[in-house]
Amino acid sequence: MANFLLLLLLLLLFSLWLPALPSPAATAASGRIPALIVFGDSTVDAGNNNGIKTVLKSDFRPYGRDFPGGKPTGRFCNGRLATDFIAEALGLGATVPAYLDPARSIRDFATAVCFASAGTGLDNATSDVLNVIPFWKELRYFRQYRRRLRQYLGAAAALRTIREALYIVSIGTNDFLENYFLLVTGRFKEFSVGEFEDFLVGIAGEFLTAIYRLGARKVMFTGLSPIGCLPLERTANLLRGGGCVEEYNAVAREFNGKIDAMVAELRAALPEFRLSVNGVYDLLLDMIENPSRYGFENVNEGCCGTGRFEMSYLCNDLNPHTCEDANKYVFWDAFHPTQKVNYLIAQHLFNATLVEFLK
Ligand SMILES: *[C@@H]1O[C@H](CO)[C@@H](O)[C@H](O)[C@H]1NC(C)=O
Ligand SMILES: *[C@@H]1O[C@H](CO)[C@@H](O)[C@H](O)[C@H]1NC(C)=O
Repeated sequence: MANFLLLLLLLLLFSLWLPALPSPAATAASGRIPALIVFGDSTVDAGNNNGIKTVLKSDFRPYGRDFPGGKPTGRFCNGRLATDFIAEALGLGATVPAYLDPARSIRDFATAVCFASAGTGLDNATSDVLNVIPFWKELRYFRQYRRRLRQYLGAAAALRTIREALYIVSIGTNDFLENYFLLVTGRFKEFSVGEFEDFLVGIAGEFLTAIYRLGARKVMFTGLSPIGCLPLERTANLLRGGGCVEEYNAVAREFNGKIDAMVAELRAALPEFRLSVNGVYDLLLDMIENPSRYGFENVNEGCCGTGRFEMSYLCNDLNPHTCEDANKYVFWDAFHPTQKVNYLIAQHLFNATLVEFLK
């Protein structure tokens, strides 16, 4: 009887203790890809917004409560991002450091660096909405990074790192949800939604060409997820039943199709450009439609607060409604996935594309 109770107690303790998620793949590949370089928005921002004047922040609890050390870092998540798991799988460290983190130096950035800024978009008007880092400036930081890398590693080694590195670009959601459909900039008057997609795809193409000219060869562009299923969009859709906003999901699919076509053109035009688009749309939709397959219990609301609208400052430790086990949720706050989803996305990206880059 005493043994049984002890066993029960141990089981209870184990179920409370959240084990670290394993790395998506064995690191047999480590060394082949010398660095991971990340551009984009909050899906991949590792804390670049911490030091800038914007209301879009997450460097306080409960953000980061499942991060190593329970530390809020400016990631819009309870734990790590997909890019952190990918860095780990490549043997490049457990987390990708933010380029603007004053505690980090070129020594850290030589193997992994993140230029992303939460709230930004392909369109300059998107980053203006919440006063975050515009996408063109991420490119400028990358140019500066190349110079610093040359000083640190020497010209030949820096060139090799830039050429052999893996680049991940994750951007676009905010152009639609924070800009076009929110009607806060003039874009909805200026462009039909199809024209706006073309405008964004053009900017993405110019960006990809620019990093190619600066030496990048292995680049993965992640398309849009089912953006109409984010809890914030469901909340805005409450009058119509609170389901996914199909209109937004259709735009995401159409945009992804145009990105595919643009990427195929660039691959044909630019020698040795190993550019791939790897959609997370289908995977995320499958999680939302078949949650039990992944161990999820809630797909409609975020874990933080009521889960219907909280993010950034509204998702804080004073909010009494925050859930206990984020692993049961697809969404952490009203706009961003949980660490568990990020881990599954990393696995998917790894399986689908990254293994190709390792050959
Ligand atoms: C965005 O702004 C930058 C800096 O002002 C400018 O160089 C760039 O051409 C703009 N991009 C577009 C698509 O207008
Ligand atoms: C990725 O591949 C691993 C190993 O083959 C497998 O266990 C895992 O289920 C795959 N994950 C996804 C999301 O495809």
